[in-house]
Amino acid sequence: MKILVGISGGIAAYKSPDLVRRIKETGAEVRVVMTHAATTFISPLTLQAVSGNTVSTDLLDPEAEAAMGHIELARWADLVLIAPATADLIARLANGMANDLLTTICLATTAPIAIAPAMNLQMWANAATQSNIKKLQQNGLSILGPDKGEQACGETGLGRMLEPTVLAAECLRFDPELTQSMSGKNILITAGPTREDIDPVRYLSNHSSGKMGFEIANAASRAGANVILISGPVTIDALISVKRVDVISANDMYQQVHENINDIDIFIGCAAVADYRVCEVAQHKIKKNDQQLVLTMVENPDILASVANLPEKPYCVGFAAETTKVLENAKHKLKSKNLDMICANDVSDSEIGFNSDLNQLTILTNDGLTTEFEKSNKKVLAEQLIQLIAQKI
Ligand code: C5P
Repeated sequence: MKILVGISGGIAAYKSPDLVRRIKETGAEVRVVMTHAATTFISPLTLQAVSGNTVSTDLLDPEAEAAMGHIELARWADLVLIAPATADLIARLANGMANDLLTTICLATTAPIAIAPAMNLQMWANAATQSNIKKLQQNGLSILGPDKGEQACGETGLGRMLEPTVLAAECLRFDPELTQSMSGKNILITAGPTREDIDPVRYLSNHSSGKMGFEIANAASRAGANVILISGPVTIDALISVKRVDVISANDMYQQVHENINDIDIFIGCAAVADYRVCEVAQHKIKKNDQQLVLTMVENPDILASVANLPEKPYCVGFAAETTKVLENAKHKLKSKNLDMICANDVSDSEIGFNSDLNQLTILTNDGLTTEFEKSNKKVLAEQLIQLIAQKI
C-alpha cells in the first residue's frame, strides 16, 4: 500500500516521524509532503530519513516537479493521511483551496483522504472548525480523532492527535487490496468479560482480555462492514470506524445487544459472559465476620441464544471456550443455542485462548462442515473468520 503522509504546522508534528515508522512497519510505502509551517516544527531531513524518500514541500519547485510532481504524487497514493491536520489546513481543505503542495494534492487525488486533527481544545470546539469538519465528512474524508487528554498548550481536553500506533492501524483499512467482502453488512459483536458485582467494592469476573472479539471487530470493519462492538471492561482499543459501546455486567450487555440488534445481518458472540450473578448485591462492603461466605447466585440471560432465537434472526456465530471434550461441547452448543456457526477453542492450552495473543479455532457450521484454523495470531484468525463468514452469508 502506498501512503502519502501530509504534515501541517502544529506541535503534534513532532510525532510524525514516529507515525511514518509505524506505518512502514505495516509494510506500506511512505512519501511525505510537508507544509512550510510544518518545517518550522520538524526537519524534512528527519522525515526523509524515516520514510526513505525525498520529502516534498513546494508546489512551484521545478526540481521537485521534474522528479515526482504534484499530480504524480496525487496519482501515486492509495491513501493520503494528514497528521497532524491543523485548524488552518482543515479550513483550507474544506474550502477547496490549493494554495500549497499538500492542499493541491488533496484536490488532485482520487485516493481516500484521512485527516488526524490536532489543535487547542477551544480551536477544535470553535463553530468554524466544526462546520469545516462537517463539510469534509460530507465530502467523503475520514476524520480520525482527535483524542482527549493533556495538550501542549497546558490545557486538557479534546484536540490531541491520535497516537501514531493507532493511526498506523487505521491506515490498513484503506488498503485497496483488501477484499470488501463485508461491504454494507451490519455486524454486532460482543467481546471481553463481564463483571458481576458482589458489593460496592468487589465483583466476579473472568480472564477474558477481549483481544479476539476486538480483532474480529477490526477485521469486519476493514472488510467494509458497519460494526458495533459491545464490550465488557477491557484495556484495549478498537479501530475508530468501529462503534463501541462499553458495558459492565451481563445484564447491561444483554440490554445493549437488544437495543442495537435492529437491521443486524451478523451477530458474533465473542464475550465471555458470566453465567451467574449474585442474587442480591450487598449495599455496603461485606465484612469479614465468618470463616465462610456463601453467595447465592442466579443465572444470567444467555445473550447469544436470545439473539439466535429472535423471529428475524441474524446469522449467529458463537464461541465455545472449552477445557474438555472441546468438539463435543461445541457441537452441542451449536444446536442448543440455534447457531449458524461456532468457533471452538481449547482454553486448557495456556499458549492459546484467554489473555494470549495466539489462538487456534475449529469452526463448525450448521451445514455440517468443519474448518480448522491453525494456531496463529488472533488478528490473522479474525481475518480468516470474517472471510469464512462472508462465504457463508
Ligand atoms: O454456554 P457458553 O457460555 O459456553 O457459550 C459460549 C457462547 O455463548 C459464547 O459465544 C458467548 O459469547 C455466548 N454467551 C452469551 N451469553 C451468556 C453466556 C454465553 O452470549 N450468558
